[in-house]
Amino acid sequence: MTSEAVTFDAANDDVVQCPYPHYRKMRDEAPVLEMDGALLGRHGERLFAVSRHEDVKRILHDPTTFSSEFGSSAANASPELRARMKEVYANGWPNVSTMLTEDPPSHTRYRRLVSLAFTPRRVALLEPDIRRICEELVDGFEQAPRVDFLEKFAVPLPIAAVATILQVPDTRRADFKKWADSSVAAIGRIISDDERIAAETDIVEQQHYFVSELEKRRADPQDDFLTDLLNAQLPPDDDGVDGEPLNIPEMLSIIRQIQVAGSETTASLLNDLAVQLAQHPEEWDKLKADPDRAGKVVEEGLRWASPNQGLFRIVREDTEVAGTAIPKGSTIWVMYGSADHDDRVFDDPEAFIPDRERLNSHIAFGHGIHFCLGAALARLETVIALKVLASRIDTMSVVEPDSLRYGSSFILRGLEHVELDVTYQ
Ligand code: HEM
Repeated sequence: MTSEAVTFDAANDDVVQCPYPHYRKMRDEAPVLEMDGALLGRHGERLFAVSRHEDVKRILHDPTTFSSEFGSSAANASPELRARMKEVYANGWPNVSTMLTEDPPSHTRYRRLVSLAFTPRRVALLEPDIRRICEELVDGFEQAPRVDFLEKFAVPLPIAAVATILQVPDTRRADFKKWADSSVAAIGRIISDDERIAAETDIVEQQHYFVSELEKRRADPQDDFLTDLLNAQLPPDDDGVDGEPLNIPEMLSIIRQIQVAGSETTASLLNDLAVQLAQHPEEWDKLKADPDRAGKVVEEGLRWASPNQGLFRIVREDTEVAGTAIPKGSTIWVMYGSADHDDRVFDDPEAFIPDRERLNSHIAFGHGIHFCLGAALARLETVIALKVLASRIDTMSVVEPDSLRYGSSFILRGLEHVELDVTYQ
């Protein structure tokens, strides 16, 4: 078989439901596959999909050659849609690029400033809140034998955790959920122009909310993340990082990034973990007997599910990956999901094995300078979630496992619906 025969159609439902045989074929036969950019929403761009663990890691480690300035999906909008979006943002603040889509030294500045506010201490302090939220969510099952796990646990937990960091009061939680949904609406999905405008309108509403919260803290500083973000400042240094604090559009962009990156990814991980544990009762029993296994189970869940299946990089100079020449200006799709199923690194990669060797070699949180800012938070949430579930639930099984379906985003992979039959302890 020649590499010409290998294709990857992200819109094909068979591929969406189970991309892993396709990824394997790519890794084995065309580890650098040139694709039609339009298939991944990159119209008119030369796009190369890189699928092997070793190559993905090398690319992530070299931000000079492989830039993160891949822009937002707005960059691909038609001129008419862009004009409509401009009208919406006339009522808000400009959508500026920060951390995820920046390179050094700008990325270094954002990452250091945000790290002054999003500290390990602030994350660790969330533990009792997250435990309480998990307990309340299980209380909300009301001992019912059948539970909509996605609606009642996986989706609300990360939204409540991020809302707690951002100090969003209970009275605004429904709005916060709406804003979170609108913020991810266009990520890795093709949506209509009207849907896009509705989503951007919600985002402007969110901007107004957070600007008012930031202004309150300017007048009356609190011991919280928003105050620290507002006051974060660095001494100028030799890496080209200036000493300017963040301005309002930058803070809004960072808040939105934390909200977007922190909600759907973690919800997808929780859903896949619940399904895997329901389908591997021996693993569930081991977890109930030894809740400290939760850390291992979460790492294997991250590897197995890779809720962020891939992102982009822009090639800054003519280069080569795995023997394939890639010209300057091309776009690369770095496939974390494929890398984490690479049998060059993980034995029997499609199986869910928390005791596997090289468990920590997964790159579900990325690698290098863009390594996930929220990794510690995502781990804390999911480990506590498993511990609480294991202390409250005796048995779980998936209702109609054949009807489990993944949504169609090629970036954020997650189940659309998870119903469980449960018995309680
Ligand atoms: C299971 C959950 C999560 C997964 C799988 C995940 C995955 C990732 C990945 C793969 C990257 C690297 C992107 C790149 O290489 O360009 C990343 C970056 C990032 N993540 Fe996460 N993430 C998760 C949870 C979170 C949470 C809870 C937060 C909230 C704080 C968060 C915030 C971010 C931010 C802000 C970045 C950009 C960092 C930078 O560019 O320096 N993520 N995440």
